[in-house]
Amino acid sequence: MRHVSVVIRTFVGIALMAAASSFAASAIPENSMGLSKTSVFATPTPKVYQENPEQPGSSKLLPRAYLGAPPQISHSISDFLPITPQSNMCIACHNQPSQWGQKLEKGMATPIPPSHYTDLRNAPGKVTENLVGARYNCNQCHVPQTNAPALVGNTFSGGRVR
Ligand code: HEC
Ligand code: HEC
Repeated sequence: MRHVSVVIRTFVGIALMAAASSFAASAIPENSMGLSKTSVFATPTPKVYQENPEQPGSSKLLPRAYLGAPPQISHSISDFLPITPQSNMCIACHNQPSQWGQKLEKGMATPIPPSHYTDLRNAPGKVTENLVGARYNCNQCHVPQTNAPALVGNTFSGGRVR
């Protein structure tokens, strides 16, 4: 029995060496190393893309990526950035607690929801009158859209969202 297992081991060893040498022989081509379809040594110019030109009041709300996801910004925000400690244009239009639960007319800004007036760390469940500091920098979570194609195709589906 012993010499049989030696024979098997030798055979496995030869097979592994053969596999290793054939791996080394088929080097990965330069243009398959990254997400780019060109050689990793090329410096391709990205396709030109445009930011969403729609202005608030005339843009169409976008689907949410999944339930609970921050809604994507449906309008241009180029006139409203940067957000600074002194100025936050987003709040100027969206800070409307009186609109909570009301039916919005077309062109009205979606009110910032109660979750943003709640200090989730120290007093979860208590809606205050003030926007919580952690929600001040809106575009940390909410993002505008461009017409750039997805870099990598995918089949993600967020399920029922709105
Ligand atoms: C001049 C008013 C105005 C300003 C300033 C503004 N928005 Fe809006 N926003 C709107 C309106 C109105 C809508 C509803 C869609 C429409 O009518 O264009 C909207 C829609 C949105 C939505 C989508 C909400 C949903 O229900 O899907 C998000 C998110 C948003 N805005 C975030 C922002 C952020 C972040 C900023 C600041 C960078 C900002 N907005 C600045 C008026 C404004
Ligand atoms: C830390 C991440 C975060 C920040 C910062 C943030 N949001 Fe949100 N926002 C969310 C998430 C997540 C949701 C969806 C869940 C919810 O309603 O709480 C949301 C929902 C919303 C909605 C949709 C409400 C609705 O009824 O459909 C609006 C409008 C909005 N945010 C505006 C803003 C504005 C304006 C700012 C800046 C003043 C801001 N948010 C800052 C994460 C954030």
